[in-house]
Amino acid sequence: MTEAALSNDLPFPHRHLLGMQSLSRGDIERILDLSEGYVDFNRKGGPRRDALSGRTQINLFFENSTRTLTSFELAGKRLGADVINMNTEVSSTKKGETLIDTAMTLNAMHPDILVVRHPDSGAVALLSQKVDCAVVNAGDGKHEHPTQALLDALTIRRRLNRLEGLTVAICGDVAHSRVARSNIHLLNTMGARVRVIAPPTLLPTAVAQLGVEAYTDMRAGLEDVDVVMMLRLQRERMSGAFLPSVREYYHYYGLDHEKLACAKPDALIMHPGPMNRGVEIDTDVADDIHRSVIREQVEMGVAVRMAVLQLLTPQQGNG
Ligand code: NCD
Repeated sequence: MTEAALSNDLPFPHRHLLGMQSLSRGDIERILDLSEGYVDFNRKGGPRRDALSGRTQINLFFENSTRTLTSFELAGKRLGADVINMNTEVSSTKKGETLIDTAMTLNAMHPDILVVRHPDSGAVALLSQKVDCAVVNAGDGKHEHPTQALLDALTIRRRLNRLEGLTVAICGDVAHSRVARSNIHLLNTMGARVRVIAPPTLLPTAVAQLGVEAYTDMRAGLEDVDVVMMLRLQRERMSGAFLPSVREYYHYYGLDHEKLACAKPDALIMHPGPMNRGVEIDTDVADDIHRSVIREQVEMGVAVRMAVLQLLTPQQGNG
């Protein structure tokens, strides 16, 4: 990988990364191309780069995370940033106040980049208006999770060589999923066709406005698709009963080899994690070394986050 492939000479036209909806096709391609270089870089395990040397990155997570937090931390460190992780429990009342107070406190320490996860949709955008640095949304409620959609796109593009013209089925708890929403925006922008498959109670109410085809029958929805993206049931975002039982859910919407047979023979199997084996996905399918790219998604996550961090912290005198 040449130095040129990892350089960031052109200014990126966005100060923050809050969602996929605001990114153009060109923006997305630019992030994916830069990420591509970081995949090679990470595999070679060379010395850390200094693109973020002298910069401070604070990861502010108001919600649990394993892979997203770890990969943002690794990404910042591999670029030479000083990285601080703050795990904050949201107090049950005055959530808004807590968030803004925390943001103002951190802002006074002059970080260069804040990576924020929060259980409320819109909270990260609100925070971005109160601070002077770049803000990356690492997942806000059921709204958006842009770096997940970017790492999914990178995984698909590397395996199938394109995004345009593909048919992607997003299956499961679409209603509560920020991963689904960000993927829908990205895939539509890149010219893919998106289907969502879910029980009627787990389809978003405004599904018609999302530019997707909705299915409640999983076999019909999987017919001839190139990619099957499974989602976890977001119980923490459900109030009340959305499902009769987990057993019944698995019967109708769990991905097993029998349902997978409706998709194209070489269709990719994806899942953002954490997976609930035997709930939304069968263990054999999740571990199918020929079809499942779930581990590759995790690898792509570090590369994509390196690219995003670099693009949002322009070099001095460089915009
Ligand atoms: C997702 C999330 O947090 O939105 N996980 C992740 O970032 N890898 C999906 C989920 O929690 O189900």
